[in-house]
Amino acid sequence: MNQSRSHRTRRCAFVPGIAVSMAALLIFASSGIAAPADPGEKIVKSLCVRCHRIEGKPAPRRTKKAPDLIWAGNKYQRDWLVAWLQNPEFKHYPVGYDFRPERKKRHLSLPVDQAKAVTDFLATHKDARIKEGVMKPGTPEQLERGGKLYREHGCQNCHLTPAKTAKGYAGGTSSTSFIKLNERLQADWIYRFNQNPNDFEPDSGAYIPKPPLPDEDIYAITAYMMTLK
Ligand code: HEC
Ligand code: HEC
Repeated sequence: MNQSRSHRTRRCAFVPGIAVSMAALLIFASSGIAAPADPGEKIVKSLCVRCHRIEGKPAPRRTKKAPDLIWAGNKYQRDWLVAWLQNPEFKHYPVGYDFRPERKKRHLSLPVDQAKAVTDFLATHKDARIKEGVMKPGTPEQLERGGKLYREHGCQNCHLTPAKTAKGYAGGTSSTSFIKLNERLQADWIYRFNQNPNDFEPDSGAYIPKPPLPDEDIYAITAYMMTLK
């Protein structure tokens, strides 16, 4: 008896469900915007958003499963992203993103056509706070000053940094690795991040010099960082 009652209840709930999804389909079809047609968008919205945010306000690292892709179009260099998505061996967070062991598992990888489609879609995710074309390659003076500031402020204490050691790098592991940074990140994004890390990762332990560095020093540090191979 129980069974037949529950069956009836389920059927009642099911019929309006169909009506709603038919209506939704009609709206999708007539507006032409709701259903993602772009293959990159489809992959990102079905797969990547399980762990990464692609929109929203800056939030602390401890509240997230994975780094934000909200400003991916300003943050990553295109060629690097296409290559890394196919072969994600390199760990940005040497000890895992949120320090839980399961996050150290291998990142999913994509075939080349999907990696390109995803990169094209993420390239449209830009952040109006980032001015493009601000950073130029540093002059020898800027690079020297930037390197000195980088060391004085202990940036390597939390970020693995290329060095003339047996391993080829030195430094701490509490945040992202800066090995091959010159291939990975866009200089204009780093410059804006360095101006105020809290605008991107509030309350996450990023280093903020007190008093804040003048813009020309931030420029010099950023120019230097773009030489980290
Ligand atoms: C199961 C959760 C999960 C899924 C699904 C996932 N990622 Fe990730 N992703 C992570 C974690 C965790 C990291 C940080 C790992 C590391 O490199 O140390 C990461 C790192 C990244 C990075 C480097 C971020 C940075 O700022 O250094 C990119 C880019 C990225 N993922 C893109 C993608 C894309 C695109 C997809 C969908 C095709 C995707 N991820 C799917 C968990 C995930
Ligand atoms: C006390 C540890 C610590 C020190 C020292 C430190 N950082 Fe960071 N840095 C962090 C944390 C924490 C984040 C937040 C991002 C994350 O880990 O997800 C971060 C993020 C960054 C990022 C964004 C990286 C990415 O791939 O998303 C840049 C750029 C950066 N820091 C530059 C610097 C510079 C330049 C210095 C020196 C002036 C510096 N950091 C010193 C802890 C540190």
